[in-house]
Amino acid sequence: MIHEEEHDLLTRLDRYLHSWGLREFHDESSYFAWQRTCLNQQQLLTLEGLLNRRSKDSTGEADIDFYDVLAQPDILPILYSQRYDYYRKLGMVLYSRLAGAGRVLDFGCGVGLLTMFLAREFPDMKFVGIDRSRQSIALAKCEATKRQIQNIAFFHRHIPNDSLSGTYDVILSTQAVFQSESSPGLPSLGWQTFTREANDDEQIHCETRLGLMPRLDVLKSVLHPHGRMMFFEKTGHLGRRILFQRALSRRGLHLLKEPMPLSYDAIDEQVCDGPLYEVSQAAQGDTALWSEEPFRNPGDSLYSCGGRMAGAMGLVFLRHGWLFQENGKSLHWGEWKLSVGVWCQALAWMLFECQFGNSAILIGGIAEVPVLTKMFETFKTAPKGQVDSLIAQVWEPLLRDSGSEECPGYENHSFSAQDLYVALPEKVVEREFTAHGEKGKAMHLEFGQSSSLWYFYWANTFDQRQLVLVEDSGSQMLRSYFEDSLREIRIVPDSN
Ligand SMILES: C[S@@+](CC[C@H](N)C(=O)[O-])C[C@H]1O[C@@H](n2cnc3c(N)ncnc32)[C@H](O)[C@@H]1O
Repeated sequence: MIHEEEHDLLTRLDRYLHSWGLREFHDESSYFAWQRTCLNQQQLLTLEGLLNRRSKDSTGEADIDFYDVLAQPDILPILYSQRYDYYRKLGMVLYSRLAGAGRVLDFGCGVGLLTMFLAREFPDMKFVGIDRSRQSIALAKCEATKRQIQNIAFFHRHIPNDSLSGTYDVILSTQAVFQSESSPGLPSLGWQTFTREANDDEQIHCETRLGLMPRLDVLKSVLHPHGRMMFFEKTGHLGRRILFQRALSRRGLHLLKEPMPLSYDAIDEQVCDGPLYEVSQAAQGDTALWSEEPFRNPGDSLYSCGGRMAGAMGLVFLRHGWLFQENGKSLHWGEWKLSVGVWCQALAWMLFECQFGNSAILIGGIAEVPVLTKMFETFKTAPKGQVDSLIAQVWEPLLRDSGSEECPGYENHSFSAQDLYVALPEKVVEREFTAHGEKGKAMHLEFGQSSSLWYFYWANTFDQRQLVLVEDSGSQMLRSYFEDSLREIRIVPDSN
């Protein structure tokens, strides 16, 4: 799509979302202030009660009640505004992928927000939306009539209890087919790995227990032999992603494109659900391969730290030498020095020091060397007046608020924490604890020394990781953190 077309589409999408009463918010306080003016105490209590019930219920009844209430015209715009950016991002992507379809089915369409947008954009295609919430379908029908959208039909269907007929060129499911959001999916083989066992029995057991099996089977039965399915489900958790991918692959569905990670703002929080999958029964040419690796992006493992701990970590690293160094003068920070280096083939770092004694550091895995080198080049070639804004982008809040003694030198809660943990040199374990649960579930905590740094590592078979690094002066803090964590975490998460 060329830029102008994309801009026009986005304008139409925004106008469309506004026509439903949705508003875009970027901070929680203004959103909740608005929510309080729109919803009364009774409505808020009802919603809270429904959410509670829904989180404990595995029959789906509470979920239906929840979406029935959400479909009330005075509640819908308020709650769906939390998903404004979700609709914006998905609306754009689905639009770009629908070309060539004749009949489109939207499974779990809710009140038809996305379905009607797409139907309006593609008047030559026929759209069908189905949902198990009667109130959602009633509102969807009413809105389609009001908006005079002719190429759409909505039906109340609870899959797999109700059957489906016909065939569709495209079947969409956005956060609908894979429910049981709290289930972490398939566990990994151990706390040291993200790999899952190839175990059909466990897969079938999970698909059945989570209701995925009958829903996917019904959907596949109405897919045209050359049709496509597009899924955007809550599969941000690797254990759920692998379970879902295996469920698609077991049904002979091939990837047509690389799965597309898609993140969106939920008011002031970035949510990384997904990715978006596009699959078909007929493999077309060089189709992408299923990958069970965690998604990794450049910069993922970087952590910035300011103040005393940054200076202390910097000294540890500088003792091992550096790759690049540059001096300069900025309007605000006076004379500064920027150094980039690699520590023990395990960590990459970029240290900023200025004449007033402030320092700040960026630390990551050695895979981040190209990212840090690029940043270094930007600093090096920036005109004098721009250096301050570069510092502000990377570190300034940390440089200003640098007093906290408790701040770790490095902290990582992502997949990349494992790569760094593995790469840490000369590890000497001081304390460790591993809990083994049923069906191979496990959790591990470890505290120790690696060369001249101290580390805390926490990992489990549901891909949660935490790595904390400090210089010598922080070792007591980290030791206490280990003991506190040990007291708190003695339970291995349940697979639901
Ligand atoms: C999170 S909402 C998503 C709605 C819409 N797809 C969207 O992206 O805004 C999930 C919807 O799926 C519907 N749903 C869940 N399981 C279903 C099933 N087994 N059969 C039909 N609808 C279902 C729910 O009623 C709900 O409206």
